[in-house]
Amino acid sequence: MILPNMNYTNLKDSYLFFRIAQKVKAYQEQHPGVHLYRMGIGDVSLPLCDAVIKALHEAVDDQSDAARFHGYMPECGAPSLRETIAAYYQGRGVNVTSEEVFVSSGASDELGDILDLFDRSGSSLVIEPAYPAYVDANVMAGRKIIHLASGRENGFLPEPDDASVADLLYICSPNNPTGAVFDREKLQRWVDFANRHGSIILFDAAYEAFISDPALPRSIFEIPGAKTCAIEICSLSKTAGFTGTRLGYTVIPRDLKRNGVSLNDMWVRNRTTKTNGVSYIIQKGAAAVFTAEGQKQIHDNLNIYKKNAAVLMEALDRVNIWYCGGKNSPYIWMRCPEGTDSWSFFDRLLNEIQVIGTPGEGFGACGEGYFRFSTFGNPEDTKEAARRLEKLLRGE
Ligand code: MLT
Repeated sequence: MILPNMNYTNLKDSYLFFRIAQKVKAYQEQHPGVHLYRMGIGDVSLPLCDAVIKALHEAVDDQSDAARFHGYMPECGAPSLRETIAAYYQGRGVNVTSEEVFVSSGASDELGDILDLFDRSGSSLVIEPAYPAYVDANVMAGRKIIHLASGRENGFLPEPDDASVADLLYICSPNNPTGAVFDREKLQRWVDFANRHGSIILFDAAYEAFISDPALPRSIFEIPGAKTCAIEICSLSKTAGFTGTRLGYTVIPRDLKRNGVSLNDMWVRNRTTKTNGVSYIIQKGAAAVFTAEGQKQIHDNLNIYKKNAAVLMEALDRVNIWYCGGKNSPYIWMRCPEGTDSWSFFDRLLNEIQVIGTPGEGFGACGEGYFRFSTFGNPEDTKEAARRLEKLLRGE
């Protein structure tokens, strides 16, 4: 008899956002027609920008014409899109070549799939609170996980030390869920640490476009030495509203080798076997994000989300609630009111003011006592949610 992967028995009963969706569904069944203010999962509310929509329409028309039709796409991405993404890095002074860029169907898929490159007996360090898929993907693969707790005392940006030695090091900056951003010096310490120990950093840059402070690094490859110890995983989900359209990209430097083997070559081997590439239509839409028009339009949308963040932060400031994030990040990470655990706070917000957020405990044990708000909601809803939240926190 074939055995299932018994590592699954080590997972929590359900995935964080699935558990929340179930709670919300139960509430809606009991309160039909009641409007909910959704600031839980980081799902975007604004439609795709015009430049992308136009490119998608053109790509659909191409598929109707034998002369312009595309079948299988190159597994690692259309050469033109790989070059476009490399140019996006080069435009920021980061030396990435097109053969180092792999087009993917999204960062969350890639964060799990990339584990194929590594020996399963190795260990993974997860800086917590953390996006729960890091832990779950490693549990499923049966890898040893080292949980590194962070907190207010280090601004949720811990430094590496002897206890953080691991084969894989997950770093997310701007961070999901705390919104904390590593500066160059702090990131340099992790890069030096990884090179010293032969570890590999899996750098989740899904929120890079939210950085408005030019002093902060948007890519790990802005840090000297990163090309010999890091893989960067990025996505258009939050940058360009592709949560439902799906496209991401991964950068694996040519210089990244372990045991004499090139990880870039290994990923080519993996992708050419396990995928048939991202669809032509979606890759055409994605290319439009990187045009001058597309960049202007996506930044107009990002500014709307940044205004949402400002509305929420002002409300929290008025009631003197501690929080971080929200400035170079679409997430706000607040302290729950004294004596309230994060799931009770979730229930209270849902039941009393119909606002949905995400309990900090869902991002790891050290997230208990905190609560995350996403700022990707509709602006009118965000204003009303902030008003209701402020009132509740005032005890009115
Ligand atoms: C989140 O809310 O943490 C993210 O939207 C989840 C994701 O990107 O899969």
